[in-house]
Amino acid sequence: MKRKLEGQVALVTGASSGIGAGVAKAMAAEGATVVINYSSSPEKAEKVLNEIQRAGGTALTIKADVSNEKEVLAMYEETFKQFGTVDILVNNAGLQKDNKFHEMSLDEWNRVIAINLTGQFLCAREAIKEFLRRGVVPSKSKAAGKIICMSSVHEVIPWAGHANYAASKGGVMMLMKSMAQEYAPMKIRVNSIGPGAIRTPINHAAWQTPESYNQLLKLIPQKRIGEAEDIGGAAVWLASDDADYVNGITLFVDGGMLLYPGFEDNG
Ligand code: BGC
Repeated sequence: MKRKLEGQVALVTGASSGIGAGVAKAMAAEGATVVINYSSSPEKAEKVLNEIQRAGGTALTIKADVSNEKEVLAMYEETFKQFGTVDILVNNAGLQKDNKFHEMSLDEWNRVIAINLTGQFLCAREAIKEFLRRGVVPSKSKAAGKIICMSSVHEVIPWAGHANYAASKGGVMMLMKSMAQEYAPMKIRVNSIGPGAIRTPINHAAWQTPESYNQLLKLIPQKRIGEAEDIGGAAVWLASDDADYVNGITLFVDGGMLLYPGFEDNG
């Protein structure tokens, strides 16, 4: 059977760790050639590359800060030089700089918006230019291109102490929907994944001790933390032709975190 992403090139930003690494490996396993973008940890990116290659996949690492226009343009140039085109963009790079709102510095605000929101704009713009130039290649996919924005349950759940992060993800939601509306007629699909709590370095403090893990589980009806593989599977599906009629949605992968678990025995 043909693998779901056979012959397609997938650029995954922030793919040296966490959810991005999980998505890169899942897409490679389905036949995609993967660009592992990273910004600061070449060793970690190499590790993901080695894992993909050991499993028989094809990939390469490219360093770029997604909030830097020049570096994003250079990353695409290098991708085109190596692999000719790009079929799938996973706009994943993101970070948290948490603080009480009244103590939040402008730098903490700007940094999070720059990576989580402006970075998604810059990477998506270049991907869409390429999708429009190339159009549909029926042997590869019914779509001219696919973008998956990594959002969060916090595109809808407010988050005290994380106003910059929640605002960035709320912004990602409308960026994603506006792009989806604008380019659906050109057969470009744009969707988001909204992860809940996934075991990655970004939320280490929330699962590292039994106490914090038990606290966290109160927010998750399925009573387990998510793993990067949970997101990898969702990303493969969204990028594949199995999801050809899916456009402009956020697919929440959160173990039920959005089900108001506080009401389970209350209200
Ligand atoms: C955040 C994590 C958090 C999760 C659920 C994610 O978007 O990055 O730190 O654990 O949302 O609250």
